[in-house]
Amino acid sequence: MTTPVRVAVIGAGMAGQAHAFGYRTASMAVSSSLPVVLDTIADPNLPLAQSVADRYGFAHATDDIDALLARDDIDAISVALPNFLHAEVLPAVIASGKHVFAEKPIGRTAEESASLQALAEASPAVTGVGFSFRRLPALAALAAAVAEGRLGTVHTVKGWYRADYAADPAGALSWRYSQEQSGGGALLDIGSHAIDAVQFVAGPITTVDSTTLRTVITERPKPAAGAIGHGASTSTETGPVDNDDIALLTVGFENGAAGQIELSRIAHGVPNSLGVHVFGDRGHATFDSLRPGEFTLFEAGLTDAPYNGPRTVTTGPAHPYFRDVAAMPGGGVGTGYAEAFTAEIQEFLRCVGAGTAMDTDFAAATAMMRVVGAALTVHRSGTAAPVD
Ligand SMILES: NC(=O)c1ccc[n+]([C@@H]2O[C@H](COP(=O)([O-])OP(=O)(O)OC[C@H]3O[C@@H](n4cnc5c(N)ncnc54)[C@H](O)[C@@H]3O)[C@@H](O)[C@H]2O)c1
Repeated sequence: MTTPVRVAVIGAGMAGQAHAFGYRTASMAVSSSLPVVLDTIADPNLPLAQSVADRYGFAHATDDIDALLARDDIDAISVALPNFLHAEVLPAVIASGKHVFAEKPIGRTAEESASLQALAEASPAVTGVGFSFRRLPALAALAAAVAEGRLGTVHTVKGWYRADYAADPAGALSWRYSQEQSGGGALLDIGSHAIDAVQFVAGPITTVDSTTLRTVITERPKPAAGAIGHGASTSTETGPVDNDDIALLTVGFENGAAGQIELSRIAHGVPNSLGVHVFGDRGHATFDSLRPGEFTLFEAGLTDAPYNGPRTVTTGPAHPYFRDVAAMPGGGVGTGYAEAFTAEIQEFLRCVGAGTAMDTDFAAATAMMRVVGAALTVHRSGTAAPVD
């Protein structure tokens, strides 16, 4: 029997709850034993921490993060706080020697991210980042198909993240709408996932050729005390939004491919769609998280001309992560956003058990952040910039 990993989650908002769910369901993995002790949920909002602990079966709730870090019986900690707190809290978590699984982005700028990466690389602990979409079996399988060369040489990449969490002007002015607190609007909040996804599939982005940023809803009502997530506010007091609702980038990849990335948090009627469309000289592949249990693949010359065309591949046990997260062991039973959180926590716990680095480490977070940094530079200067 593998020694259990005793875990805590710092941050009880939307993402902290998704991590709690991931730890709660991680032990269902069939490919490895991942025993977990659900210890503590920590948040300055103690009633919220307690309700999340109760819901997901954690033994304790606390608002004292320092006391949590001082405990020597906690093995691993998730951090899911507003972006501006990551650069403040993560150094203390790393210094505590505990394994860390941090939400993206790990800082508001490439510089913050790089300095956290340096701390992580000096630590013997596992330090991972929550690029959860990579754990969807269909997107992971699409990336594997590209890596196997099934599409030939990739020349065109389209990535998108369309969401409508900010489409309602009554949506409260949370930390997400402050450039100072968030480091970016759609460009960073959801762009972090889309940029990571296209780099996962098609390799490093080396230039940002153009950036368009737009703020469409420029004022929002102030949030109620203790509000989390994307809820509406009835306050008559409003404040300014100073980051982007829409971000459109054109980019270049290391292998010479050209790409476009489209990000919107005001895409009315599209609640949550991350997608990748990639063309090579021998085929193409498409994934959209609105249909998370499938992807489309076209391989030129695979069948006779009259019947040749893209085919839909339904995910199943042959695909990455599927066997460890699906409710039944058969293809087509479906995996989605929830299972991606189970799979990412399973991957983190496997790395903790084996003492190996995660693929989604702090370096991957900085690689994403450097693209965001270049996009902001291009927005200011109006000329193309390398991703440094
Ligand atoms: N991987 C994903 O799909 C995903 C989804 C959502 C959010 N995220 C990331 O997770 C992190 C947290 O986002 P969220 O959506 O959970 O946020 P949220 O607003 O829902 O929750 C934030 C939590 O932080 C706590 N908090 C502590 N100090 C605070 C302060 N000074 N101001 C405001 N809140 C404070 C709040 O009490 C709350 O519990 C962010 O970095 C975000 O980018 C990732």
